[in-house]
Amino acid sequence: MAKLNLDGKVILAPMAGITDSPFRRICKKFGAGLVYTEMTSSQGIARGSTQTLRYLPYEEEERPIGIQIYGEDTATMESAAVEVMKWKPDVLDMNFGCPVKKVIKKGAGSALLKDIVHLEEIVRAVVNAVDIPVTAKIRSGWDDKHVNAVEVAQMFEDAGIAAISVHPRTREQSFKGKADWSVIKSVKDAVSITVIGNGDINTPESAKKCFDETGCDYVMIGRGAIGRPWIFAHIEHYLKTGELLEEPDDEVKFDILNNYITLEEKFRGEFGTLNHLKTSISWFLSGMLDSKKASEDLVRVKTMVDFKAKLKEYSEMVLKNEKPSNWQLGDIQEIAL
Ligand SMILES: Cc1cc2nc3c(=O)[nH]c(=O)nc-3n(C[C@H](O)[C@H](O)[C@H](O)COP(=O)(O)O)c2cc1C
Repeated sequence: MAKLNLDGKVILAPMAGITDSPFRRICKKFGAGLVYTEMTSSQGIARGSTQTLRYLPYEEEERPIGIQIYGEDTATMESAAVEVMKWKPDVLDMNFGCPVKKVIKKGAGSALLKDIVHLEEIVRAVVNAVDIPVTAKIRSGWDDKHVNAVEVAQMFEDAGIAAISVHPRTREQSFKGKADWSVIKSVKDAVSITVIGNGDINTPESAKKCFDETGCDYVMIGRGAIGRPWIFAHIEHYLKTGELLEEPDDEVKFDILNNYITLEEKFRGEFGTLNHLKTSISWFLSGMLDSKKASEDLVRVKTMVDFKAKLKEYSEMVLKNEKPSNWQLGDIQEIAL
């Protein structure tokens, strides 16, 4: 299987409840080299559940795009993989890192790291079922006594996986502690397939540090991109020039947020957008004046009309109080809108 060959060095991580099509489009405009869908149930896909299938569509402008599936049953993963090909993604990804109880209980996500024989069966079945690059995302292992990322990566390489994303925390850690990038380095040293480093990369400097310390081929950004989609452009710029770009000022941030809201409204309608924004609005406003209170107020609002009115009121208050920065609106609007 050929190595992944992307234009950008920075990849958007799959994030359930976050990386829907509008979010991916914004990240793409800021230079994400590859974007992934939210994790999608292989069972739901195989059953043709409309609830599940709505995770799969994307816009052409999102390419290259990877669709991520998860599940514990080999035959179901295989038929879901075949079914997903109808959507013509560039990459198919398998989730072997999810720490969520509901997923683990069924033996899917990171639970599969405990059973490498079963894991290999799934991986081989899926790789053989499709003719596009198959990638896989793992954690370092189940717990600190069972860190087996290298063994898993070597098996992946042998089974024909094109690239492996490593989030170097164990399942037991969930999101606690620090990502241990030395695990990414051990994986990179052990295999010749593409290695994507992930975990706690949220600034241009941390991205460069991860490349330097681990030798990984790409970095993957999750939480660092929520509400801050310009991070892709900032990392790329820093990697190429060594120059740190200033954070966009609040006026630009509100422009990006409003653009995102418009895309969401088109994508999921008024009610769906209101619910969806409740999970991410605080990330978008973070760092702004009195943002905690503003997010709390916005989360309580009952209609999109009220949401937008409140947001406008808040943005006017923030912008009246903001010190001008060196950022020129045109710099980023060109990419964002
Ligand atoms: C809200 C949220 C949802 C996530 N959903 C997924 C998912 O659907 N599939 C997956 O492989 N990882 C998922 N992850 C894990 C991320 O892809 C990533 O591995 C993790 O957040 C560490 O990277 P970061 O430090 O850049 O956030 C999720 C993480 C968050 C915060």
